[in-house]
Amino acid sequence: ASSTPSGVVVIVGSGLIGRSWAMLFASGGFKVKLYDIEQQQITNALENIRKEMKLLEQAGSLKGSLGVEEQLSLISGCSNLQEAVEGAMHIQECVPENLELKKKIFAQLDRIIDDRVVLSSSSSCLLPSKLFSGLAHVKQCIVAHPVNPPYYVPLVELVPHPETAPATVDRTYALMKKLGQSPVRMLKEVDGFALNRLQYAIISEAWRLVEEGIISPSDLDLVMSDGLGMRYAFIGPLETMHLNAEGMLNYCDRYGEGMKRVLKTFGPTPEFSGATAAKVNQAMCMKVPDDPVHLAARRQWRDECLMKLAKLKGQMQSQ
Ligand code: NAI
Repeated sequence: ASSTPSGVVVIVGSGLIGRSWAMLFASGGFKVKLYDIEQQQITNALENIRKEMKLLEQAGSLKGSLGVEEQLSLISGCSNLQEAVEGAMHIQECVPENLELKKKIFAQLDRIIDDRVVLSSSSSCLLPSKLFSGLAHVKQCIVAHPVNPPYYVPLVELVPHPETAPATVDRTYALMKKLGQSPVRMLKEVDGFALNRLQYAIISEAWRLVEEGIISPSDLDLVMSDGLGMRYAFIGPLETMHLNAEGMLNYCDRYGEGMKRVLKTFGPTPEFSGATAAKVNQAMCMKVPDDPVHLAARRQWRDECLMKLAKLKGQMQSQ
C-alpha cells in the first residue's frame, strides 16, 4: 500500500548528499541503488559508506534496527539509470545544484519511470516550479531538502510543485518518518524554503551588527552557540515565545511593541563584501585557519557534536 512504502530506492548522484541518503535509506531497511554519471564516484561512495557505517557502529550511533553488514548489503552500485529505476518506489536526485543539469535529468527520468515512483530532488534552493514544470509525471515530483549532515540533523523540508499530488507529499512524509528523519511540509513554494529564509535573516542581522561595530565577529557567534542556539536545539522560536510568558498571547501583549520597535531599526540587506567581509574573514581564520586540513578537522568536530546532540535529543524525547 502507498502508506507503507517498501522496495527499492534509487540515488541519482553519489556525492556527499547522495551517500548520506543511501545510509539513511539502508538504515530503514530499504534496498538502495547508487547511480552516478561517473563510475568512480559510485566506487568511492560504496567505500566511503562502508567506512562511515563502521565508525558509526563503533560509536554506537548506527541508525536503524539492522546490523552494519546487513545495512551494507542493501546498498549496491548501478551504472545504468534505466535498469536502476525499474520497479523503484522512490528516486532521490542528488546531482550538483544546477537548474539546467537537474532539468535534463528529470526529463530523462520522466521518459523511463512508471506512474508509481516518487521523484524527489535534494535541491537546497531551486523551486519545484522551475525544476518540474512540464514533466508528464509532475504529480509524482517533490523537493525533499535535507540539512547537512543528514545523518545527525533530521530535518527534511518537503516542497511540492503546485501540481504535486497530495499522495506524493503524504508518501514522502511517511517515508522520511520511517527513516527517523523529521519532515516538514511547505504548503507552498517560496525562494529559500523555510530553513534558509530563517538562516539568512540571522546571518543578515549578524553581519549588520558586526558592520556597525556593535559586536566582534567571535562574540556574535557566541550569542548563537552559547545563547539562542542552546534552546533552539529543543524548541523553536514560536514555542519560545509561548514559554517565555504566560502563553503566546500574553507574550505578544507584553513584548509585541518592543519587538516592533527593535525590528524597525534593522538595516538594509548587507553586501557581504568589502571591509566587513575582510574583518569577519580575519576573525574566523584566527579561530579556524581556512586551509583544507583545519577546515576538515573543525567539520569533524562539529559532526561529532551533532552526533552527541542527536543522541541527547533522542533521550529527551523518550522521557
Ligand atoms: P556533490 O558534488 O558532492 O555530488 C554530486 C554528484 O552528482 C557527483 O558525484 C557527480 O558525479 C554526480 N553527477 C553529476 N552529473 C550527474 C549526472 N548527469 N547524472 C548523475 N550524477 C551526476 O554535491 P552534493 O553536495 O552532494 O549536492 C547534491 C545536491 O544536494 C545539490 O542539489 C545540493 O544543493 C543538495 N544539498 C546539498 C547539501 C550540502 O550541504 N552539500 C545540503 C542539502 C542539499
